[in-house]
Amino acid sequence: MQIVTDPAAMQQLAFTWRDQGGRIVLVPTMGYFHEGHLSLMAYGRGQGDHLVVSIFVNPTQFGPQEDLDRYPRDLERDCDLAAKQGVDVIFAPNAEQMYPPGYQTFVEVTEVTRGLCGASRPIHFRGVATVVLKLFNLVQPHVAVFGEKDYQQLIAMQRMVADLNVPVTVIGRPLVREADGLALSSRNVYLNPEERRTALKLSQALFLARDMAAQGERSRERLFAAITPLLDAEPLLRLDYLSLVDNHTLAELPTIQHTARLAIAAYVGQIRLIDNILLEVP
Ligand code: PAF
Repeated sequence: MQIVTDPAAMQQLAFTWRDQGGRIVLVPTMGYFHEGHLSLMAYGRGQGDHLVVSIFVNPTQFGPQEDLDRYPRDLERDCDLAAKQGVDVIFAPNAEQMYPPGYQTFVEVTEVTRGLCGASRPIHFRGVATVVLKLFNLVQPHVAVFGEKDYQQLIAMQRMVADLNVPVTVIGRPLVREADGLALSSRNVYLNPEERRTALKLSQALFLARDMAAQGERSRERLFAAITPLLDAEPLLRLDYLSLVDNHTLAELPTIQHTARLAIAAYVGQIRLIDNILLEVP
């Protein structure tokens, strides 16, 4: 496995692979890998000839009060784990290389980024779209693999490639949970035992709604009335949003026709966690 830090070298390598007729797969990440990342790599490995995993904690997607400096990093461990997944290249540029002095161009996906996380993280998706388009230009992938854990990000990236005619297929893969239901996240490492117990309420609330929908419940009002007491009972948990949205447009839904996405974000102590689940009414 090769580790490339220079964006120009990465792009040159990608052009060479393309000239040779190779199919390139990119898994964009911010590192500090967990099983969720590894599952994206395992899937990506089967999608092409050259598997690139980018590791870049992108400053432009963090607000001034957010955890950019505290975001967990361990490049050496990440490289060991990626090598075991058959990754060909780790692309790990630094912030100065990605945003040199004079940098001033940004990408905005407007509608699907307005609600959910976009409402409380106003510059987040602008930073994500910008860096992902830059990564696409540097790695020249045919396919890019994203996790459904960041469901709004996945939808925004599918919108971006469609709107800007970017010749990359954006594939979403299911989120991975711990055995007790907690959605895997690099930020989980910061939860103390009590916070971790509290964090479990997020997935428990989603599972309850999934089960109610499976038994025929369509009403947002009744679903929310059932699950909010679970969350309100937790003193360490501060809800950011609970939203029932259309799977594709992310528009808020008063009722479920056939399927919907229930998404949640909450602070547990200082840590902001997100989770989501597909609801299907038979
Ligand atoms: O999901 C992430 O890890 C990041 O938002 C991404 C897609 C790598 C862009 O920085």
